[in-house]
Amino acid sequence: MRPEETPATNIDLLAIEDENLDTINTWFEAPHVLPWWGEPSDNRKEVAWNRQSRYGDCRLIAGDGRPIGYIQWTDLWRWSPNKSYGLPQGTIDIDVLIGERDALGLGYGPEAMRQVIALVCMDAPPPLFSLLTMAENAPAIRAFEKLGFTKQQLIEKLGKPDNWLMTRAPIPEPIRTNRMA
Ligand SMILES: CC(C)(COP(=O)(O)OP(=O)(O)OC[C@H]1O[C@@H](n2cnc3c(N)ncnc32)[C@H](O)[C@@H]1OP(=O)(O)O)[C@@H](O)C(=O)NCCC(=O)NCCS
Repeated sequence: MRPEETPATNIDLLAIEDENLDTINTWFEAPHVLPWWGEPSDNRKEVAWNRQSRYGDCRLIAGDGRPIGYIQWTDLWRWSPNKSYGLPQGTIDIDVLIGERDALGLGYGPEAMRQVIALVCMDAPPPLFSLLTMAENAPAIRAFEKLGFTKQQLIEKLGKPDNWLMTRAPIPEPIRTNRMA
């Protein structure tokens, strides 16, 4: 499936308010998130960094009107030049989770990423988008491949040897018109 063929899903990306933090922290602890996102206290620090930094940003994902997940994106080199994996300066790294278990598998994750990619590109298209995902996280790899990310190399992270570094070029969104072909 080409990236632009990802099924449309009704999501909104909302600014994160202080009162959302407990919900997000609960998601970091959820059994279907914890193995892939790692230490919740580190994740809480990243949320705080992304909320105040000019080099990162984050949103609450609302799916069909209710909060279901969290997404963050960061200038990889500004976050950690030592962990830029040879990717070009300005690469934007994305992390996503669907925290509500009953909202998994409905396309919300890739749609949230698609909207973040469009948002970032509207401002200034980066050379690449990147993400890291554990090799055994098959649903995540599937979701990211549907969005046009491809596996580049296996990377060691937090003592785990098998993390796929995946990247995607900032392909412009298809131009939709009402004109008949
Ligand atoms: C990775 C993630 C964001 C994908 O979002 P999503 O909205 O579930 O993505 P999709 O609906 O496109 O589903 C992707 C794949 O998940 C699998 N899947 C389907 N239903 C599922 C369910 N109920 N539970 C788990 N996986 C499911 C399928 O393989 C699906 O691919 P398919 O549509 O070709 O069948 C989401 O699974 C998630 O948040 N997982 C927990 C945290 C995590 O792993 N984050 C990524 C870390 S790198």
